[in-house]
Amino acid sequence: MPRTATLHVCSDCGHSEPRWMGQCPGCGAWNTLVEERPVAALTGRAGGSRSAGRGGAGTAGAVAVRPLREVEQVRVARLPAGIGELDRVLGGGIVPGSLVLLGGSPGIGKSTLTNMVMGHLAAAGRRTLYVSGEESAAQIRLRAERLETEGCAALDVPVLAETDLDTVLATLVAEKPDVCVIDSVQTLHAAELSGAPGSVGQVREVASRIMAVAKGQGTAVFLVGHVTKEGALAGPRVLEHLVDCVLQFEGERERTYRTLRALKNRFGSTNETGVFEMAQGGLVEVLDPSARFVGEATRKPGSVVLAAMEGTRPLLVEVQALVSPSEIVPPRRVCNGIDRNRLALVLAVLGRHAGVGTGTADVFVNVVGGVRVDEPGADLAVALAVASAARGVTAGGEDRPLPLACFGEVGLTGELRSVGHGDRRRQEARKFGLDPVISPESAPTLRQALKAALGVPAPNLKTS
Ligand code: TYD
Ligand code: MG
Repeated sequence: MPRTATLHVCSDCGHSEPRWMGQCPGCGAWNTLVEERPVAALTGRAGGSRSAGRGGAGTAGAVAVRPLREVEQVRVARLPAGIGELDRVLGGGIVPGSLVLLGGSPGIGKSTLTNMVMGHLAAAGRRTLYVSGEESAAQIRLRAERLETEGCAALDVPVLAETDLDTVLATLVAEKPDVCVIDSVQTLHAAELSGAPGSVGQVREVASRIMAVAKGQGTAVFLVGHVTKEGALAGPRVLEHLVDCVLQFEGERERTYRTLRALKNRFGSTNETGVFEMAQGGLVEVLDPSARFVGEATRKPGSVVLAAMEGTRPLLVEVQALVSPSEIVPPRRVCNGIDRNRLALVLAVLGRHAGVGTGTADVFVNVVGGVRVDEPGADLAVALAVASAARGVTAGGEDRPLPLACFGEVGLTGELRSVGHGDRRRQEARKFGLDPVISPESAPTLRQALKAALGVPAPNLKTS
């Protein structure tokens, strides 16, 4: 096939160059040039008639518009993915013709999850297609053989191990599956573009052409995309505005728990989270994660239970802290599962308003199980875990058989601020016998919360 000349366009200022450059000569920005097909090539493929009509004068080419009230509602039945946690995160199943981007770091379980979904759909009599540019058909079969979930016919799913975009599109048209998986969008290659597979221009081209074909024939597509820890490989990021739904699969590869959350969802809420466990026979849904985390919680200084909200669902997770004298300046601040800036804020308020200084100590904070909590309600748990670790006192008292539960936002003046769904959080804690729960409603200031959790507040704490 003859190669169409391509352009490299700056995504900041729009300047174009015939070849790629590290720095844009137009605006001086670095790494902003993205490979694009020239407009002539684009209109030649699709939508040519439309742009031709645009130039006309007067009302020629105009179309009638009507109020939203008169637009017919289309109620399409969703396809159940067969995995309850995934269906919930999607907003009640797969929407036919939708484009879902599933991002996550390598080894997290994206292929396993999509294999299982396709297996369930195949078992339910749906037409499926699994396209892999990463693994050979034999490798995919090996994985599918490991999957032991009931009602999952992973071995019945047709596979295509291919990296050429045109072949994939032709097969998509020939097979007309109800649901198709592209694993991964970074491995497919559009022949017209000279960029390497996975480059921004390639990824965008691959996704938009798959979308055009899939939407046209009502095929729902899961685009799998790798994201590195730092988000460095920006590949999938450029697709976020294009797709209907962005799912993020998170967790530490070494840990068993993984969370699936929607960062964007045109057909449902973005608050839902699914919790999975990687087991021998594939991913297993963790239907009652609170019970797991509370059951595994340690009863030692430096540990508290956070009554968090994961979307519409309350979730109890253990937050642990370690405070130890530091030999370096500035001392270490290491956290897993919470935002570093929130930790810095909580430590500052602890030192300034609650008499728990950690200026000469290393502080480590960890949300157990590889869970990530991105909500201000986690502040109080971090504060209590750090104070409990710094003082060597078990939160809630030594003789308490169960861990202490809490939630609340820490304000800059040392006050505790309410967060959403207080009742549901307390209810969830009570379900597991964690009562009383320390919250902004029971302790208006951080100092009072420390007193309630650890006994008398320390006037000034020595950590070195
Ligand atoms: P994979 O789904 O290939 O990850 P990704 O596509 O996101 O890169 O596999 C993730 C890991 O899970 C892999 O190291 C093997 C492991 N695994 C299990 O522990 N049990 C299983 O049943 C399967 C299929 C995989
Ligand atoms: Mg994979």
